[in-house]
Amino acid sequence: TDVVDFHGPHQAGIATAVQDRLAFMTFDVTSTSRADVVELLKSWTTAAEAMTRGAAVPGAPPDDQVPPADTGEAVGLPAARLTVTVGFGPSLFTGPDGSDRFGLAARRPAAFVPLPALPGELLDPARSGGDIAVQACSDDPQVAFHAVRNLARIGRGTVVARWAELGFGKTSSTQGSADGDPGGTPRNLMGFKDGTRNIVGTDDAALDQHVWVADADGQGWLGGGSYLVARRIRMFVEPWDRDRLGDQEAVFGRFKDSGAPLTGKAEFDAPDYAATGADGPVIPANAHIRLASPENNGGLRILRRGYSYTDGIDATTGTLDAGLFFLAYMRDPNQFVTLQRKLGTSDALNEYIRHVGSGLFAVPPGTSGPDDWWGRALF
Ligand code: HEM
Repeated sequence: TDVVDFHGPHQAGIATAVQDRLAFMTFDVTSTSRADVVELLKSWTTAAEAMTRGAAVPGAPPDDQVPPADTGEAVGLPAARLTVTVGFGPSLFTGPDGSDRFGLAARRPAAFVPLPALPGELLDPARSGGDIAVQACSDDPQVAFHAVRNLARIGRGTVVARWAELGFGKTSSTQGSADGDPGGTPRNLMGFKDGTRNIVGTDDAALDQHVWVADADGQGWLGGGSYLVARRIRMFVEPWDRDRLGDQEAVFGRFKDSGAPLTGKAEFDAPDYAATGADGPVIPANAHIRLASPENNGGLRILRRGYSYTDGIDATTGTLDAGLFFLAYMRDPNQFVTLQRKLGTSDALNEYIRHVGSGLFAVPPGTSGPDDWWGRALF
């Protein structure tokens, strides 16, 4: 079936097998009323649940005197495994002026503070932050866009859109080696297989340990939820394309064609970080996979769920404005901070990338049924 269950202990769109397309948008709350925010989340939940089934946004019957309840561009299209996932930014808890605008400040988890300045970034405030984030994923780009557009429309008067990104090719698999992704592990815009050693969406033990927030982690309302880190990572495609193959492979520590680690033959062979050759470690000290691997980070893992993006040509340089829209879910934002502090200073990949947009969101748990709504336990 091409319908993903909407309700469940966790929101869909995290452990769900990664769909092909992404529409991502963040919003700022303009209303000063807590009741408006609650109303918004209720209507968003109802609309998202319907769209996930492939149905139109519910509303009054058509009336030629008022706009239709649904914008209409997904009529006749399949659900295409649509998932809609919502997260709350730190700024929802403490307003722009530091005020406790919705009476939520005391419910902000201690771990949930804005990301610190990190190496390897030059962030554009116009592509960062947001009080609420919506991640819509689907195998059909129009279905994903339709979902975000309709939530934006429903939200008018309560929220304004802050920034958005469309992703056109998944750069991660959450299906791993066991059953495998039917199309094989996808490739990122650098041409490398991406997601080989990602957390597998059916590995409940790994999800509990690294992705889902536990009730005991601090704030009960977030139990069963997660944290989402979004990073718009620009790739310097032109210099990358001029780099020789051997160097490209050294940057990642993997072979480009097979995806195998430089110490192995097949994609899913375990990397051997101890192996050395004439020039030192076979997987270089500054290779991306060595620096990011759980073996070299005290077992730390995250669930990656990113997409390739392009926004056309960078007019100032005439180069492609393209890269990885990195999305990762984790139990504590510090998992990302720890990794990026290391990658941002030492990764061979830094010559070819720069983080230019950023967002951190607390993703509430899933909804239990028709009477439940996103964030109910928070409000
Ligand atoms: C692994 C690409 C940024 C964390 C990988 C792999 C590739 C890759 C090709 C190897 C295959 C795999 O196991 O998935 C990229 C590109 C990036 C990028 C092109 C930027 C444009 C990041 C960032 C982080 C990160 C910002 C976290 C802060 C990881 C982790 C692994 C990984 C945790 C798995 C390591 C392992 O389990 O052995 N990445 N990555 N990556 N990357 Fe990245």
